[in-house]
Amino acid sequence: MVLVTGGTGLVGSHLLLKLTMNNTKVRALYRTTDKLDRVNKIFSYYSDNAIALFNKIDWVQGDILDIPSLEIAFQDITQVYHCAAYISFNPLDFKKLERINREGTANIVNICITKGVDKLCHVSTIGTIGRSINNEIVDEETEWTRQNANPYAITKHLAEMEVWRGAQENLEVVIVNPGVILGPGFWNNGSGSFFKTASKGYDYYPPGGSGFVTVNDVTNIMIALMDSDICSERFILVAENLSYQKVLRKIAISMDKKPPSKSLKFWQLNIGKILDSIRNLLTGKPRTVTKNTIFGLKHPTTFCNSKIKQALHMDFEPIDKQISFSSKLFISELS
Ligand SMILES: NC(=O)c1ccc[n+]([C@@H]2O[C@H](COP(=O)([O-])OP(=O)(O)OC[C@H]3O[C@@H](n4cnc5c(N)ncnc54)[C@H](OP(=O)(O)O)[C@@H]3O)[C@@H](O)[C@H]2O)c1
Repeated sequence: MVLVTGGTGLVGSHLLLKLTMNNTKVRALYRTTDKLDRVNKIFSYYSDNAIALFNKIDWVQGDILDIPSLEIAFQDITQVYHCAAYISFNPLDFKKLERINREGTANIVNICITKGVDKLCHVSTIGTIGRSINNEIVDEETEWTRQNANPYAITKHLAEMEVWRGAQENLEVVIVNPGVILGPGFWNNGSGSFFKTASKGYDYYPPGGSGFVTVNDVTNIMIALMDSDICSERFILVAENLSYQKVLRKIAISMDKKPPSKSLKFWQLNIGKILDSIRNLLTGKPRTVTKNTIFGLKHPTTFCNSKIKQALHMDFEPIDKQISFSSKLFISELS
């Protein structure tokens, strides 16, 4: 049986959909029952048979920080997809990020080893890949440094170190490092905020850009890697390196909204950083503009995707199709 952590998130729910469609026997970890409705909603985007597919999943309530609950979830498990993580760029969240991302991953690795799991697929991020210094294209071998890394990337790097420790202890592992993952349903956090922002028809866009990939590609690749003999490797999953302007423009056009036309200047971002931190203190809303995010905007990195293409003899789907699919769902749900 296969175990998925983070099954109520963007990646995990799409992965569960594919696994249930393939008739793979699957168990998934969830924390609170309200989140299960989200999975049902995601399934309904793709299938008329959503409830039947959802009912194929053996849901186990648990937390990656709670070892007794993991002991139960890991009974008779042969493969683990570890998608659970906490995503925040707020420096004040460092302790929580470190616990969920590093310690939670250490728990998953340890229990995989003690239960004799065959293979672990760990979801990391391009944030743990070294950055371009002089505009060169980076790949899986580019050296990562902690300098100017945001707290999320630091803790995802530490999580990867736990996975490599597992590999040293003879656990078969494979790591994926996706760029910004585009997909529907999670409009209020992570990459979902691109759809929310574009729908507002703002004039301004942030400078810089990133690597983008669809949730469809990420989950297909994870399954293909799990089913392959490939192990002790990590793979950048980026379909296209694009500016934020281009992505917001594509989304705005697909929603029939005005695309942003003016780049935010760095002095505006520095003022925004101060306002953002005051807003965070007063309202508790997550911080989006920090010293490290501004550094990232100033130094965009171009990611090479040839390692995964060669390993699986595949090509990425263009992000336009996913943008149009997700934008339609966004409009039908939130407009
Ligand atoms: N989204 C992106 O653009 C992106 C890009 C690159 C890499 N990634 C990586 O991809 C993976 C999946 O991300 P996502 O976008 O699917 O994130 P997401 O939508 O925020 O989902 C996160 C999942 O982790 C679960 N989780 C968090 N803390 C947990 C804990 N202590 N115990 C058990 N489960 C816990 C959440 O459960 P609840 O539902 O109960 O909160 C949720 O199911 C993560 O490893 C992330 O770092 C994401």
